Amino acid sequence: MTAGQLRLTVNGTAVELADVPAPERLLDTLRWRMKLKGTKEGCRTGDCGACTVLVDGRTCLSCLTLAHEVDGTSVTTIEVGPEDALVGRVRAAFEAAGALQCGYCTPGFVMAIAGLLRERGTGAPREELLEGLGGNLCRCTGYTAIVRAVDALRTETP
Ligand code: FES
Ligand code: FES
Repeated sequence: MTAGQLRLTVNGTAVELADVPAPERLLDTLRWRMKLKGTKEGCRTGDCGACTVLVDGRTCLSCLTLAHEVDGTSVTTIEVGPEDALVGRVRAAFEAAGALQCGYCTPGFVMAIAGLLRERGTGAPREELLEGLGGNLCRCTGYTAIVRAVDALRTETP
């Protein structure tokens, strides 16, 4: 492998990237290099959760993660297809609950909830799941509907 080369699986597809500078953030690799604009850029300082993706199934703030840190991993973004049924269920729960206004925070919330459910299970206490979303901010303040979506997922997800 040459310097700057990166091998990832992104949404189930093997990807090889060249000339990735050492300081490049995963957020920029996804949005600008790979044109996966679903992952949003908010604060770039780890404070809003808009950039949340999954790395090997665990939540990751892509604005605070160097692309080279995740070399060899599997990255999942909001664009993932039916191969990730859990992300699909969270997206559907958001739609059913009407849990979005401008939608800017939505991809981050969806990925954060998917990561939490995968890690802690649907049997995790409601408060624990909601506390796990503490790093995700909605500037439209549509939190009530987001909580409704979480509640639905806790009862619907096997
Ligand atoms: S853009 Fe990453 S936490 Fe705000
Ligand atoms: S729906 Fe607008 S920021 Fe959350």
